[in-house]
Amino acid sequence: MPTPSLAALPIRRLTLHDLSSCADLSEDRGWPREEHKWGFLLTAGKGYGIDDPDGGLVAACVVTEYGSWERSSLGAIGMVLVAGRHARQGVGRRLMRHVVSLMDTTPLTLYATPFGRPLYEELGFKMTGRSEMLRGHFAPGGPECRVATRAAVAEDLPAMLRLDQEVFGADRTSLITRLPSFADQLRVAEEDGRIIGYTAAWPNMDTHVVGPLIARDTETAMALIASLAARTHRPLRTDIDVRHEELLSWARARGLAPVTVNAVMTYGITDLPGDWRRRFAPLTVAAG
Ligand SMILES: CC(C)(COP(=O)(O)OP(=O)(O)OC[C@H]1O[C@@H](n2cnc3c(N)ncnc32)[C@H](O)[C@@H]1OP(=O)(O)O)[C@@H](O)C(=O)NCCC(=O)NCCS
Repeated sequence: MPTPSLAALPIRRLTLHDLSSCADLSEDRGWPREEHKWGFLLTAGKGYGIDDPDGGLVAACVVTEYGSWERSSLGAIGMVLVAGRHARQGVGRRLMRHVVSLMDTTPLTLYATPFGRPLYEELGFKMTGRSEMLRGHFAPGGPECRVATRAAVAEDLPAMLRLDQEVFGADRTSLITRLPSFADQLRVAEEDGRIIGYTAAWPNMDTHVVGPLIARDTETAMALIASLAARTHRPLRTDIDVRHEELLSWARARGLAPVTVNAVMTYGITDLPGDWRRRFAPLTVAAG
């Protein structure tokens, strides 16, 4: 039987059964396998992919929706990947068009690598900001921090969700409630019994990714990062909005080296909702 053309191969929903094929696809494009992250995204979000008749996946991506269960107010697209052997043949464009049309009028956002950006621009996405990825072993030191932090407990969840919605600008309950099992650490910053910030460190390959990072101010963000770093021996990785210059300089001085800058893009809205001043880092660039 002749092999069907790439354009005729159906796009289907991915499930957790596709986890290792998704990780293979990451590896094929020189990305880390990131199985823990794929597992999280395929359960908290919706994966879409194209099967390769020769085995594995031709392409994949994940859409994570925020808002109430009957109506999404924001969709985040991530993990857009096309196998190297099928690159530059229109598959990425077709998969993205499919997802954008499924999302109908829901505003969309994504973090674009330099490779993905031309495609997203062609589809009508506009760059609204940038984020810098940093990685390295955190070196403690510097002036003593006055912000109190502690491990989050179950009773903190309602206050964390309220703060998160205010700052993120959309309801992320379905993601945040997964953090206690997904992350190795979940910590809050507190003042007079009130939660003024929270963060998590989740395992990704040999690193701990810091995110989300939501904090009243830069000092609170610093305290939260330092408190995570004090409880892991792994290098930290995080993606900080470049407008947070003070936090970026501090993180660089504490040993986190710049890796790359990604473009934050939106579709259907001119800017992201919420309060960027208190939103320092996403949970993952793949989901916002
Ligand atoms: C980015 C990616 C998904 C594009 O998929 P693709 O199927 O190869 O892209 P398409 O053939 O549909 O190309 C669509 C357009 O994107 C742009 N594009 C794609 N690959 C490009 C490249 N290597 N260099 C410059 N532009 C490129 C072009 O404008 C292209 O249109 P054209 O071929 O008519 O000029 C794919 O290259 C990939 O998986 N890259 C590695 C992972 C990655 O960076 N993903 C993006 C995450 S944000």
